Amino acid sequence: MKDADCVEFLQWALPNLQLRWPGFRKVRGQVCKRLARRLQELQCPDVEFYRGYLETHPEEWRVLDGLCQVTISRFYREKAVFQFLENTVLPALLQRVIAREEKYLNILSLGSASGEEPYAISMLWHFRFQKQYPDITLRVTATEANPELIQRSRQACYPYSGIKNLPPDWRATAFQQIKDNYCLNPQYHQSVHFVQQDVRNNIPPGPFDLVLCRNLVFTYFDEALQNTILDRIALVLRDEGILVLGIHENLPANQTAFIPWSGKLRVFIKNKKA
Ligand SMILES: C[S@@+](CC[C@H](N)C(=O)[O-])C[C@H]1O[C@@H](n2cnc3c(N)ncnc32)[C@H](O)[C@@H]1O
Repeated sequence: MKDADCVEFLQWALPNLQLRWPGFRKVRGQVCKRLARRLQELQCPDVEFYRGYLETHPEEWRVLDGLCQVTISRFYREKAVFQFLENTVLPALLQRVIAREEKYLNILSLGSASGEEPYAISMLWHFRFQKQYPDITLRVTATEANPELIQRSRQACYPYSGIKNLPPDWRATAFQQIKDNYCLNPQYHQSVHFVQQDVRNNIPPGPFDLVLCRNLVFTYFDEALQNTILDRIALVLRDEGILVLGIHENLPANQTAFIPWSGKLRVFIKNKKA
């Protein structure tokens, strides 16, 4: 399939799925490859034919929706965000947990791919905070729509390219090399709970101290859907809870529920007045 045909097709189809083309522009290769495979399976000669097929087979939109889920991730993607979490955000949140005389630090990771983001938080906790805060327990809830990725998350084995951004001593301590893969040792799994869930329909109830929603909602979803999900995130976050987006993402322009903490890193504080 020619790139131009794929682009034209996506520009037509994505709005019907409440998705936005600009989010897909740079990563369309993955989606176009899947689309070409689907056309082959259905023996569609070209995308024009597939458009007709979608019109006569409305159930196919669900399949197309699945093809449009971009799954790229890695540990410590956007490293500066994790450094900000380590040096600034987590110490502040831990002080609040202590002030509330509570035992748990509750974190939500939305669109958790193969577990890279929630496990990175678990490692950060083990290596930097656990000894200093022995009375506090970390609980990370991670949601992901794709059941295969949930399975992969539970296996927690990654190629070297997936873990190479991590500090070298963490890589050496936390992973065991098995053939070409690096498998995360079980003690780092304990604080992470995976749930198969579509963020468009469900969000775990909370309350959460921190929500990571990176490189999904605010990249790929249209503005109406972004606003709906943002309202739901605000509901499950504590007052002055923290929301982290990907560094190339932005909140919808009209929202008032969050104020920037670090604008450059797209870290936001839930606005008490909202
Ligand atoms: C581009 S990855 C980002 C992963 C991670 N948050 C990061 O920043 O590295 C987006 C993830 O969201 C998942 N996803 C896509 N649509 C979803 C939906 N509607 N609900 C939940 N997860 C979804 C994809 O399967 C993929 O694992």
